[in-house]
Amino acid sequence: AGSLDGAASRSGRRFGSAISWNGGTTGGSIQNPRYADVVKAECGLLVPENEMKWQFTRPSPDVYDFARMDAIAEFARTNGKALRGHTLLWHRPRWFPDWLNNYDYGANPAREAERLLTDHIRTVTDRYRGQIASYDVVNEAIDHDRNATIETSMSRAMGSPEAVMDLAFHTAREQLPDGELVYNDYMSWEPAHAAHCNDVLRLLEGFRKRNVPVDALGIQSHIEIYSVDPATGVGPYREREWRDFIDEVVGMGYKLLITEFDVKDKALPSAVALRDEKVADYTRRYFDVMLDYAELSDILAWGMVDQFNWLQGFAPRDDGMEVRGTPYSSTYQPKPMREALAASLLDA
Ligand code: G3I
Repeated sequence: AGSLDGAASRSGRRFGSAISWNGGTTGGSIQNPRYADVVKAECGLLVPENEMKWQFTRPSPDVYDFARMDAIAEFARTNGKALRGHTLLWHRPRWFPDWLNNYDYGANPAREAERLLTDHIRTVTDRYRGQIASYDVVNEAIDHDRNATIETSMSRAMGSPEAVMDLAFHTAREQLPDGELVYNDYMSWEPAHAAHCNDVLRLLEGFRKRNVPVDALGIQSHIEIYSVDPATGVGPYREREWRDFIDEVVGMGYKLLITEFDVKDKALPSAVALRDEKVADYTRRYFDVMLDYAELSDILAWGMVDQFNWLQGFAPRDDGMEVRGTPYSSTYQPKPMREALAASLLDA
C-alpha cells in the first residue's frame, strides 16, 4: 500500500500514468529505465501517450503500424500492469493524419467514411483483445470557442460529427460487449471552463437520447493555476458548479475516470518550494472533491516526471523554468504533489 496504486486500491480504484515509446532512454518512455522504475513502483495501470493515435497506427488508409503500440503493450504485460486505450478517434482535424484530412471519399462518401472508421476500431480492438478493456473511444470532440461539435472530413462525409461519434461507440460496443467505453474531454473545474462543461453535458444528453453506448466520462484533469486569489493564495476553481456538473453526469448514469491529470502552475511565482506546496494544495483540493464520487474508478496522471510532461512544450512558464505539474521531479524524486495525492487517496 506504499504506492499510489496501493493507496488507490484501498477504495477499490486504480492509479496509473501515461507512458510513451518515443523519447528513448532519456524520455518519459518505456526505454528509459529510470522512468520505467517510477512507473513500475507507483502504477497499476498504463495508457499510451500518443502511440495509439491514428498518426502512429495508421500511416495510410490501408496500412496499419502497431510497432510502437505493441512495445507499450508488451511492457505492460511484462510488468503486470493493466492497459487502457487512448484513443480510437480524436475527432479534430488538427490531430487527424494529413491523409485523412485530405481524403477523397469518392462517390458514396458516407459509406466510405463508415468503412474507414469501423475498420479502424475493429482492427485496433481485435489486436489488443484480452489486454485492453477500457477505451477513450472518442476524444475531445467539442470546439469550445464555437460551442459546437467539431467538423472533420469524416463528419462532412457522414453528415454530422454526432453520426461519426455514434458509429464509433456502436462499433466499439459490438467489439467489446463488456468493455468500458469512454468519452474523454478536458472540461475542468476552473471558471474558464464553465461553457465547455455545458457543451459536454449537451453531448452526453444526446448520447443517452440516441441510445449510444457510452459508459463513462473521462475527465482529463489538466487542471490549471492560471491565477491566484490574493486573499487565499489558492488557484482558481468553482467547487459548487463543478459538483453540479458531475452530479448531472452521474445522474445520467455515466461512470467517471480521471484520465490525464497534471497541474499547470503558470500563475505561481518562480520559487520552487513554494510552487510545489501550492501545486500540492491544489491537487489535494481537487482530489478531495473527485474522490467523493463512488462513480470514479481509474485515475491516471499524464506522465509521472516533470521533465517529460507535455506542458513543458505546450504551456511553458514565462520565467523559463520547468512546469512542476507531475508527481515526480526531473531528478526522479517524489514531490509534495505525490504526497498530496497519496493522502487524498488514503482518506477516500
Ligand atoms: O514523434 C514525432 C517525431 O517523429 C517528430 O520528429 C516530432 C516533431 O514535431 O514530433 C513527434 O510527434 C509529436 C508527438 O507528440 C510525440 O512526441 C507531435 O509533434 C506532438 O504534437 C505530440 O503531442 C502530443 C499531443 O497530445 C498531440 O497528439 C503530446 O505528446 C501528448 O501529451 C498530447 O496528449 C493529449 C491527449 O492525447 C489528449 N488530451 C490532451 C493531451 C495533452 O495535449
